[in-house]
Amino acid sequence: MTGVGAGAVPGKLPDVGTTIFTVMSRRAAELGALNIGQGFPDYAIDPRLARALADAVAGGHNQYAPMEGSIALREAIAGKLRASHAIAVDPAHEITVTCGATEAIYSAIQAVVGPGDEAIVFDPAYDSYDPAIRLAGGRAVHVPLSPPRFRYDWDRVRAALTPRTRLVIVNTPLNPACTVLRAGDVAALAQLVRDRPITVLADEVYEHVIFDGRRHESVLAHEELRARSFVVFSFGKTLHATGWRIGYCVAPDALTRELRKVHQYNTFSIAAPLQAAIAHYLPRHPECWQGLAAFFEARRDRLLAALAGSGFGAPGAEGTYFQLLDYSAIAPAEDDLGFSRRLLEEGGIATIPLSPFYREPPALRYVRLCIAKEEATLDEAARRLRAFADRAAR
Ligand SMILES: Cc1ncc(COP(=O)(O)O)c(C=O)c1O
Repeated sequence: MTGVGAGAVPGKLPDVGTTIFTVMSRRAAELGALNIGQGFPDYAIDPRLARALADAVAGGHNQYAPMEGSIALREAIAGKLRASHAIAVDPAHEITVTCGATEAIYSAIQAVVGPGDEAIVFDPAYDSYDPAIRLAGGRAVHVPLSPPRFRYDWDRVRAALTPRTRLVIVNTPLNPACTVLRAGDVAALAQLVRDRPITVLADEVYEHVIFDGRRHESVLAHEELRARSFVVFSFGKTLHATGWRIGYCVAPDALTRELRKVHQYNTFSIAAPLQAAIAHYLPRHPECWQGLAAFFEARRDRLLAALAGSGFGAPGAEGTYFQLLDYSAIAPAEDDLGFSRRLLEEGGIATIPLSPFYREPPALRYVRLCIAKEEATLDEAARRLRAFADRAAR
């Protein structure tokens, strides 16, 4: 039969298929495997937050919220930024509430990248950056961070700049490498963009998930960078509520105005009762973000202890709610797509390979695990991983 099949439609992202997250999660469900790959908590949100949402609906917060976000929530966000990072932000002109960090990223990119423009992306990169750049008509220039340390080579970044470079995207703490920007990196970034027409997009959704006493080096804390940056955050991460889809973007007045032009024709405004619930909950429960680092660090340490001596290497995550496992001692010649497939089919555990996060993947022997899970889930994951490694060693 002939006709207009999907292949005949002149789509704008012809090479984009189903993401690795969907592929792994779908197969995990078919096999009844333990899914510890995709990044979402498997435990309940704070019941006080759930109650605040029910109260918001019952209290009448059910019509369109203001396009830029409810002022109550934007004031609560400004209060949190002051308390957490000692950063003063104007809630009226510098904060926009978005549909998750994903929309903030998308709208920021559409606001400043145009046809023929270039945007620097560091690989391994969160998967939404590249398609958003291409939908804006731009070109993503991928600069790889090399394993095992995934550090920035700023000379290499400088060499990647051209007169068309309009945007540099950084992510700290970095999913999926689990590393963080150091103060020296922030200074190098500032020097890189100085005197150039380049905006910075900083994805800081894991701002509070940072370990071993490290400090979150927010781009907002750097005066010079802040003046030219969109900085993106997510209540999905901070409140363990990825399904609520509430994020926000902090940017100077001029950039915020450009972002809102896109946002108002993209999502227009974000679910009113969810905003009201967070606005009520956030100032009353600062422990929700104050305790995040310790909460996830304990989970990371539990997993690392359970895997000690298993054959899997586990370079301690510096931040994010993920942990990389190095399987090079178990299957040195096997690529990460093949290994994670085998881990799923033979070991009953779904993880995420690293190579889909690269434009041109180097030889990688890592899979990513999510530690935002019940302790029992992490223990079961470790048990299955150990059993798999034992069988491989026989
Ligand atoms: C680095 C990074 N940025 C952005 C997002 C998207 O956040 P949200 O769920 O708030 O859209 C995620 C979610 O996994 C992420 O890991």
